[in-house]
Amino acid sequence: MLDLWYKNAVIYCIDVETYMDANGDGIGDFIGLTQKLDYLAGLGVTCIWLMPFYPSPNKDNGYDVMDYYNVDSRLGTLGDFVEFTVQARERGMRILVDLVVNHTSSQHPWFQAACKNKNSKYWNYYLWSKQKPKDIKEGIVFPGFQKTTWTYHPEAEAYYAHRFYDHQADLNITNPEVRAEIQKIMGFWLALGVSGFRIDAAPFLIELQQADNICEMVDDPIVYIEEFRKFLSWRQGNAILLAEVNELPEEQSRYFGNGNRMQMLFNFWANQHLILALVQEKAAPLIEALARLPEIPEVGQWANFIRNHDELTLDKLSEAQQEEIAAALAPDQEKMWIFDRGIRRRFAPMINGDPRRLKLTYSLLLTLPGTPVINYGEELGMGDDLSLPERHPARTPMQWSSEPNGGFSTAPSDKLVLPVIDEGEYGYKHLNVSVQRRDPESLLNWMERAIRMRKECPAFGWGKWQILETGHESVFAHRCEWNGEVAIAIHNLSSEPSHISLTLTDDKGSYLVDLFEDQPDEEVLKISQDIQLAAYGYRWFRVRR
Ligand code: NOJ
Ligand code: CA
Repeated sequence: MLDLWYKNAVIYCIDVETYMDANGDGIGDFIGLTQKLDYLAGLGVTCIWLMPFYPSPNKDNGYDVMDYYNVDSRLGTLGDFVEFTVQARERGMRILVDLVVNHTSSQHPWFQAACKNKNSKYWNYYLWSKQKPKDIKEGIVFPGFQKTTWTYHPEAEAYYAHRFYDHQADLNITNPEVRAEIQKIMGFWLALGVSGFRIDAAPFLIELQQADNICEMVDDPIVYIEEFRKFLSWRQGNAILLAEVNELPEEQSRYFGNGNRMQMLFNFWANQHLILALVQEKAAPLIEALARLPEIPEVGQWANFIRNHDELTLDKLSEAQQEEIAAALAPDQEKMWIFDRGIRRRFAPMINGDPRRLKLTYSLLLTLPGTPVINYGEELGMGDDLSLPERHPARTPMQWSSEPNGGFSTAPSDKLVLPVIDEGEYGYKHLNVSVQRRDPESLLNWMERAIRMRKECPAFGWGKWQILETGHESVFAHRCEWNGEVAIAIHNLSSEPSHISLTLTDDKGSYLVDLFEDQPDEEVLKISQDIQLAAYGYRWFRVRR
């Protein structure tokens, strides 16, 4: 029997720094996060993905690591980390941590040592060139904020490669010592109790760059991923790699391999088309996007999401589609659009906080083939602060209560790591955990119920899925079957109520059991079943034979 825990997991992404501050210094910490584990368990989270919490100059929200074997002292100690993992496990939750090894911070001792001495073993940890190689335009990941991908280092007297900011020097993956180092880092965190890694910037990690000092050439650097996976599987059989790979569907298969590479990939492709479908109020973009996804191996799984901590990238859509989305969701382009490709807002304000559309969207997230990943605060419909720079608007502290600083910290508000949203509709005084807890209609309470239901329908995470005919352009319906169990979800993307006739070729003679509403079971008398949906309505059914 395959016991793949991640297939029916609910993953929740946390930045420790902005989640809960226990010691009142204005910065979230592991002790604070540990105090919130009962909240997370109550919500139904089964796996926590921690964004980088390592010592870092913090010029890219921790994605610039200075020491892979430690906890940033502002957030706690290794002892606090281990205590946190033990307490999470106690509540049935697993931990994934970010593995950021495409690059290190330029303040990492390896880079410092390399710059000081070309003969040090650390020189070959990075990619160098005597002459400045030509910048490829698409090579720059942060257009408008980043000028080049090769920067001259006067002490090293050479240019070093960096796909991201110039303070993030790319590691040389062709160097076996670098790969051994990466394995040692994985081994370290596995020993401290984690269940796997989110692989940052996976395509960049394995790209073979032109440089003077490439050590070893392989035909296809994907073998490096196989090497990491092998290491992982020997060390801890049930540990996983969840990779950030935003590529066309045809390119994605190779990251899964035949089940011998990454177990999970973020589904950027479905995400972008889901957003398009929501804006157009038409199912076609989502149906076509899902149809183009590659077959994945049995141990493979998609990680679905609505928003993450970065911009909502729309780079896989046409310019016209991007413009259509921007007009609807980011009307003030100057303030809301970033990197020529995405939106730096949280999701709720993009749809004006409409509770019907919020529930519709998260209902899709919880039922689409794959495993849902929720970014902290999404369960409340948290807002953004567009006065903050770069991708920070969507990274403000968690809103726990109507106490000062939203209950996130007792520090004076000018000492907070990022300001709490304190004004307007999304301000912490009315939008917070404590208020939503008391309101049976709140998004938080809805999310808790929906997550419970999702977990009770493993067919959504494990099953073979197919799109169902609805005869209605605004309605998306799909059916998942696993181990003889069938789950069906129907979503009306339109602001108008819809009446559809759903084609149920395989379920004639069965009953549809509504999983949300107290409705009598409906017998499927004919192959096409009449179904009513409210404006932005959704329904989940279990098929009872
Ligand atoms: C992807 C991360 O999600 C993003 O936040 C970061 O800036 C880059 N990788 C560089 O590490
Ligand atoms: Ca603190």
